[in-house]
Amino acid sequence: MTAPILSLKGVNKSFGPIDVLHDISLDLRAGEVLCLLGDNGAGKSTVIRLLSGVHQPSSGSIEMDGAPVKFSSPRDAADHGIATVHQFGGTFPLMSIGRSFFVGVEPTKGWGPFKIYDRKKANAIAVDAVQRLGITRITDGDRLVGGLSGGERQSLAIARAVHFGARVLILDEPTAALGVKQATHVLRIVNEAKRRGLAVIFITHQVMHAMAVGDHFAVLIRGAIAADFRKGDKTREEITDLMAGGASMATLEAEIEGYTTAQGGQPAKRA
Ligand SMILES: Nc1ncnc2c1ncn2[C@@H]1O[C@H](COP(=O)(O)OP(=O)(O)OP(=O)(O)O)[C@@H](O)[C@H]1O
Ligand SMILES: [Mg+2]
Repeated sequence: MTAPILSLKGVNKSFGPIDVLHDISLDLRAGEVLCLLGDNGAGKSTVIRLLSGVHQPSSGSIEMDGAPVKFSSPRDAADHGIATVHQFGGTFPLMSIGRSFFVGVEPTKGWGPFKIYDRKKANAIAVDAVQRLGITRITDGDRLVGGLSGGERQSLAIARAVHFGARVLILDEPTAALGVKQATHVLRIVNEAKRRGLAVIFITHQVMHAMAVGDHFAVLIRGAIAADFRKGDKTREEITDLMAGGASMATLEAEIEGYTTAQGGQPAKRA
């Protein structure tokens, strides 16, 4: 196996008196997709916020290419080649598609020829990148980001990360707001990013999506890593149970069955 690009080493995170993450160690490798799984509130987004410079660990360390790093801000993490599509937006509603695609991409970073903002060129590149993700309804780069659907916004953010050659792509529930067709496109992009040698972290609540792209799986339960395994090590049922926080889905289904039977097959009446 290759050396990890990015690692968490014994990371803890507390917010005041609330301990959210406990002793998290994870390795991300080039050309691999790590699926981070776990129930609501398990701590997945908090792990992502540490890796993308939104928060800093309370203790433990982050290493990049084997050397300790501190991401002081999201901008700092981005400068290290970490592109993050956060769970809830993170775009600029009053900016055009073309503008938002290139925002913060200063020419001093050596990221392209945009010394003077060239609206037409920016629009053409942004629209092309989004269209290649299958969002063919976007044809006008002057449209405001605020007028896009949630799924279209996420696709725009992913297109941007891939376009600017990030080394690590972090996707926090990118398929949650998407229709079947767009979700399939996102999974395809994840595979494409992997093929290009990016390390990808992918968060999802859908076991089929996880299994479609994951090489490596880590399950968080109440802020700690409860399982860490590779593709093929566990069955779909085992993964589903782990994603539900360790509860057996078969038991849950039996409970629901018993409940609907008790109601004579009818939904519960309102009081
Ligand atoms: N800034 C904060 N201050 C206090 N508690 C926080 C803070 N951020 C997160 N938490 C708590 O940490 C826990 C983990 O939250 P997190 O958002 O990481 O969960 P998650 O696994 O992403 O859940 P979901 O699947 O619902 O997105 C939750 O109990 C949350 O309330
Ligand atoms: Mg979350």
